[in-house]
Amino acid sequence: MTILAVLHQEIRVNFRYGVYFTQDLFAPHNPLLAEITGGGGGDFPRKLLFVVDQGLYRRHPRLLEEIIAYLGHHPGHLQLASPPLLVPGGERVKNEAAPVFLVRRAIQQAGLCRHSYVVAVGGGAVIDMAGYAAATAHRGLRLIRIPTTVMAQADASIGVKNSINAFGQKNFLGTFAPPWAVLNDCSFLTTLSRRDWLSGVAEALKVALIKDASFFAFLEKAAAALKNRDLEVMQRLIRRSAALHLDHIAHGGDPFESGSSRPLDFGHWAAHKLEQLSAFELRHGEAVAIGMALDATYSHLAGLLPVAPWRRILALLARLGLPRWAPVLGNVRAVLQGLQEFREHLGGRLTIMLLAGIGQPLEVHELERETVEQAIAILGRRAAGGVRQPATAGLAAGPV
Ligand SMILES: NC(=O)c1ccc[n+]([C@@H]2O[C@H](COP(=O)([O-])OP(=O)(O)OC[C@H]3O[C@@H](n4cnc5c(N)ncnc54)[C@H](O)[C@@H]3O)[C@@H](O)[C@H]2O)c1
Ligand SMILES: [Zn+2]
Repeated sequence: MTILAVLHQEIRVNFRYGVYFTQDLFAPHNPLLAEITGGGGGDFPRKLLFVVDQGLYRRHPRLLEEIIAYLGHHPGHLQLASPPLLVPGGERVKNEAAPVFLVRRAIQQAGLCRHSYVVAVGGGAVIDMAGYAAATAHRGLRLIRIPTTVMAQADASIGVKNSINAFGQKNFLGTFAPPWAVLNDCSFLTTLSRRDWLSGVAEALKVALIKDASFFAFLEKAAAALKNRDLEVMQRLIRRSAALHLDHIAHGGDPFESGSSRPLDFGHWAAHKLEQLSAFELRHGEAVAIGMALDATYSHLAGLLPVAPWRRILALLARLGLPRWAPVLGNVRAVLQGLQEFREHLGGRLTIMLLAGIGQPLEVHELERETVEQAIAILGRRAAGGVRQPATAGLAAGPV
């Protein structure tokens, strides 16, 4: 059929948001939250709906009082939209439909408008879920993220994605919606479990591996301090990781991921599947650590990554206390199914980031099944304390 007419449309939209680093965010004298909500037009007072991670609240039992007292210090400027909404912490909050419903209903019942704020306080899962609910009510309320885990401060809260899981698939429902602001308060990190303290370090290692060899060297030097819960060193890691993620989103040329290349998803094709196969017993960061061990080993077997950097990567994962193996990785068939789901999630041509060196990513468009199996077998033997298999290059036939 002939095209009778076409009206061309082009819209350019700039997004600008700050990632702030602070301490004791809800102390009455800390002006940050009040100042952040002050700009941007609209009517006073600003209405704020707090969505708070229950796991965080358990470790900070005075948190709700502090939030209420903080808003009380700014009468006429800030207003609590409703009592803070407590939601379960952890991946559960992304796996169930109820939390999103509760946030949306609270937004509706409190009469929030698009100049109001949803303030998500918690781990990456709560932030992802609350961000998704906020982005879809009235087509998008302002979202302030207050991440309280290393993972959330170093990665999950920094970017433009919000999501929940559905139909057995990780992040199946979601939006691209930049936040109004991100407020990182290091004082929350002191109460993290050992696993949650360490798991976020995996995303810092990821961004070092694909972007910044000097950051990798920093992590090697800092490994013992990080394992020993040195908050000062952890803050340096978080700031560097956040800066590298922000830089990629701003200057990588594809902030809303409409192409197929996704460097920040290094190690993630397997990670998402491993999380699901473990019934989310594995933390996201732990799954990413295993996914990176797998893709680094694959890179080595495929003759792309020399033996020395491959060994350095596996050694650093171990020194950081991050896993390189989990029993679910042994389910090779199911893990490989993750490749197909990854391609569907990203759209377009399958694009997997591998490594040619530390800080040297390399894109490929297929993985050889036999090499993936060989990589899994090597990691399995190493985990079992078996003989260290000298890795050899060489590809068997048949792309996955
Ligand atoms: N949107 C993105 O770009 C992006 C990026 C990376 C990861 N993520 C998502 O982030 C999620 C993982 O986040 P996570 O690693 O923060 O885990 P999490 O949100 O599952 O939290 C882990 C546990 O820590 C608890 N917790 C939170 N803050 C605490 C504190 N200060 N002290 C004690 N306990 C605390 C929580 O209640 C939970 O039990 C995954 O769903 C992942 O997909 C999203
Ligand atoms: Zn991740």
